[in-house]
Parts: sequence; structure tokens; C-alpha cells
Amino acid sequence: MSRSISAGLLGLVIVTSILIAIHAMGFQFRVSGDPQIHARFDAMPVAGAMHVIGGGLVLLIGGFQFSSRLRRRAPSLHRNLGRVYLLLVATGGIGALALAPFAGGGLVGQFGFFLLGVLWLFSGLQAYLAIRRRDIEAHRAWMLRNFSMSFGAVTLRIYLGLFAVAGVPFEDAYPVVAWLAWVPNLIAVEWFMALTGQGRKST
Ligand code: HEM
Repeated sequence: MSRSISAGLLGLVIVTSILIAIHAMGFQFRVSGDPQIHARFDAMPVAGAMHVIGGGLVLLIGGFQFSSRLRRRAPSLHRNLGRVYLLLVATGGIGALALAPFAGGGLVGQFGFFLLGVLWLFSGLQAYLAIRRRDIEAHRAWMLRNFSMSFGAVTLRIYLGLFAVAGVPFEDAYPVVAWLAWVPNLIAVEWFMALTGQGRKST
């Protein structure tokens, strides 16, 4: 992939991530959000806040970590932001596991969110363990997988919008989107890594 295409793609990822991070803050402070989802979050305010604030901040910083220019120019910033990112994934992921059994979309939706939460936490832990043993290729691969799932918060809202435009009722769209939001993202990064040879030595 040419340098300008990948820079453009990363820019798009960063901008859309920031927009959804702003949505998360709007949801937390009740400026926006679906009343039914707010009612579920009100029943678990601690898990809800952990999830929405943790996930929102993950999106705010995550994209910048993939900028090779930033990594080269400010390696200590990359390290510190990386530590914060992984702590936020842990916070947001634990919150997500508490919320998932009560999410909308019935059993299919709940299982989709729950599995996403487990894989989000697992890939964050693997990324951390990889960098502790100085395996940069494996670290990069696990971070790509992890952020592709964080980015699920963006793709989820894109798909929900598309389904709404197509006239599909929200109750029908939600269980589908609980999977569609992240499985193709994960396949796309695996495909990208296979194509570019990145993460070859990953475990
Ligand atoms: C990647 C792992 C994630 C999992 C497993 C997950 C799971 C969930 C679950 C189960 C709900 C409740 C849905 C319901 O009650 O129907 C939810 C809602 C929400 N999540 Fe996440 N989420 C993840 C990532 C994120 C991220 C990165 C953000 C950052 C913006 C985020 C922001 C929100 C917000 C704002 C809501 C409230 C509902 C809405 O505005 O649509 N989530 N999430």
C-alpha cells in the first residue's frame, strides 16, 4: 500500500474515532443517546462510566499510536500513551463484560458484545506481554487486532446508520451489527498483515 494511501486511511480512522469519542462523552453526560440504552446504563452506572469513558479515551488516543512518524519522533510519548491506552482498554473492557449480558439485540447481540469484550481484553494483554518481551512484530500485530476492535465502536454506528437508511428496524439491525461491527475489521487487519508481511512472527 502506498505511503499516501496509508496516511490518508490513518487520518480517516483518527478523525472518525475522535467523532465517536465525542459521541461517547455526549452519551456519558446525557447530551445524546438512546433512552433505552441510558436506562440499561443507569442500572449499572459504574460499569457504564468505566465503559463509555474508557472506550471514548481509547478511541481518542488509539489511532495516533499507529503513526510511524510520531513513534520515530517521540518514542517515549508512544510508550506512555501505549500504557494509558492499555489501561483504558482494561477499564472499558471490564465495563463491557458487565454490560454485555444486558445489552439489546437478544442472545445473539449479547453474545456478540461479550465475545468482543473478551477478545478486546485478550488482545490488549497479548500486546502488553509481547512488548514486555521486546517482540515488536508481535506487539504491532496484537495492537492492530486490538484497535480494529476498538474501531468497532465507529463501524457499529456506521452500520446502524446504513440499516436505518435502508429501513431495517433497529431491533432487527442491532443483533447483526453486534457482530458486523468487529468481525470484518478483524478479518481486514489479518488480511492487511498477510499482504504486507507485518506481524509475521506474531504468536
Ligand atoms: C471493543 C469492545 C467493546 C465492547 C465489547 C462494547 C460493548 C458495549 C455494550 C455491551 C454496550 C451496551 C449496549 C446496550 O445496552 O444495548 C455498549 C454501549 C456503548 N459503548 Fe461500547 N463496546 C466496546 C467498545 C466501545 C468503545 C471503544 C467505545 C468508545 C466510543 C464505546 C462506547 C459505547 C457507548 C457510547 C455506548 C452507549 C450506547 C450508544 O451510544 O450506542 N464502546 N458497548
